[in-house]
Amino acid sequence: MTIQEHIPLAPLTTLQVGGAARYFAAAASEDEVREAAQFANSKQLPLFILGGGSNLVVADSGWPGLVLKIAIGSVTSQQEEDTVSFDVGAGVDWDDFVTQAVAGNCAGLECLSGIPGSVGGTPVQNVGAYGQEVSDTISSVRALDLKQDRIVVLPNQDCAFAYRASIFNTTERGRYIILRVSYRLQQDGVPSLKYADLKKHFSAWAKPPSLADVRDAVRQIRLRKGMLIVPGDDDCRSAGSFFKNPVLSEIQFQDLRLRAESRGLKIPSYPALAAQHKVSAAWLVEHSGFSKGYALGPARISSKHALALVNSGQASAADLVRLKQQIQNKVEEHWGIMLDPEPVFVGF
Ligand code: EPU
Repeated sequence: MTIQEHIPLAPLTTLQVGGAARYFAAAASEDEVREAAQFANSKQLPLFILGGGSNLVVADSGWPGLVLKIAIGSVTSQQEEDTVSFDVGAGVDWDDFVTQAVAGNCAGLECLSGIPGSVGGTPVQNVGAYGQEVSDTISSVRALDLKQDRIVVLPNQDCAFAYRASIFNTTERGRYIILRVSYRLQQDGVPSLKYADLKKHFSAWAKPPSLADVRDAVRQIRLRKGMLIVPGDDDCRSAGSFFKNPVLSEIQFQDLRLRAESRGLKIPSYPALAAQHKVSAAWLVEHSGFSKGYALGPARISSKHALALVNSGQASAADLVRLKQQIQNKVEEHWGIMLDPEPVFVGF
């Protein structure tokens, strides 16, 4: 495996900002991942694992250690009665895998169509959209445990999945390198139609939509919101949602609801875990003095969705961070809520 030096990271991310990696390697096998980890260890270099680069903000100063791009491929599948288990390399393009699953009429991922990134990134932040989360279908995650220097297979319940969270980005951050992910899907299952946007899309349909119909609908909705990567569309130079939807306790939620009502407004919210409410971060942004398309220098809010921050072309990571801070400050001023960023910040 070749270890390269001073490799610009911006082109490897969808947001396209940030400096270079001091060292860079791409690992196409488990052995190469081990080799790269040993290299980083022997030189005492901080290690950053790069997947599809779709949820990252890389600092303008870049990364001082080794960036390891996971390029482990291959998808295998095995049918057991009415379920199909897919074992997928962490480097496989997520949407290619979803396409394959839907084409095989396997249910469970159809709402997660059109999400940029690679398979290995999906358990880390428990990717979710339109009423599905990967934690609903992941059966296990195969990973290199850097702490014990051995390969482990973590069953779903050991990953502690929650909204945009798992052990991989919380309690055990930096400990594991994800190598493969297993998903258990329903052969000939019915598509999930929980989400309002999707229900609306099919409201006039006479027959129930197929998995492929739902996949198409999700892609159309994402396209409208600038959340589908379309070459040439400036709104796509983003990291998807830049903030998480705040999850509030009953008391916090009632406080926010009253604040909104006193201004004649109703905040969109969804029930979350026990006695919690998830509220729309996009709505909070738009009701704190920002509109879609708002620009602060070369960084701006997408013209299609208030949660996506966009690099207009010449933005630096610092420009994006300035806009992020301005939004956080205003939302806190207006609503008393500090928005939590969703992408991973690298090298800050
Ligand atoms: N809204 C606004 N302004 C906007 C967009 C939305 O006020 O510009 C309000 C509307 O009331 C809308 C509500 O926010 O009904 C929810 O909007 P949307 O359906 O677009 O979803 P979201 O909550 O903003 C989340 C995920 C997305 C995921 C969609 C669909 C997070 C942080 N984001 O967005 O995930 O695709 O739901 O399920 O959880 C991502 O994480 O990068 C991502 C794109």
